[in-house]
Amino acid sequence: MTPLDIYVLDAPILRQETTVLSEVTDAHRRLIDDMFETMHIARGIGLAATQVGRLERICVIDIDKVKYALVNPEIVASDGEQSGEEGCLSIPEIYGDVTRAKHVVVRALDRSGKPIEIDAHDLLARCLQHEIDHLHGRLFIDYLSLLKRTAAIKKWRKLRGKDKSLTRTMPPRETAEHHDRDEEL
Ligand code: NI
Repeated sequence: MTPLDIYVLDAPILRQETTVLSEVTDAHRRLIDDMFETMHIARGIGLAATQVGRLERICVIDIDKVKYALVNPEIVASDGEQSGEEGCLSIPEIYGDVTRAKHVVVRALDRSGKPIEIDAHDLLARCLQHEIDHLHGRLFIDYLSLLKRTAAIKKWRKLRGKDKSLTRTMPPRETAEHHDRDEEL
């Protein structure tokens, strides 16, 4: 498994629509494995293909030791409301409150190409909505008020300083530093 570079805010690919897969191939499964590896090193709980510079409609999630690799995920039902803080591996150290559906039903293919349905509440439901948004070029900061979004982007630019690179390179797992937060998606 190879850790992949994570694209960060300003990278145009984060705003692109992904492509539906007609089948799940070995190459896709390798991408899924690399995405899990990347997400674990970055200590995230979700990662979408656009974040690693790819346009396949694939995302991975790992919440409370339950892992999901989802191909062509689609929300088929949603209800309720929850508000909570979100972060994103593509906008590290920036957080904002986002209101999402409290409950969603998602249909997707798993890594073997088998159709699955996930009935999710709370954090898993939030994570699914965040990752599926990524697969349609949407970021969590899009949901913030203009004022909060502007402040978030300003903070991000300040944290970055002179660094204008569009990717973050993940260190190999052994040397990955531990962050005090573990909830970026
Ligand atoms: Ni994200």
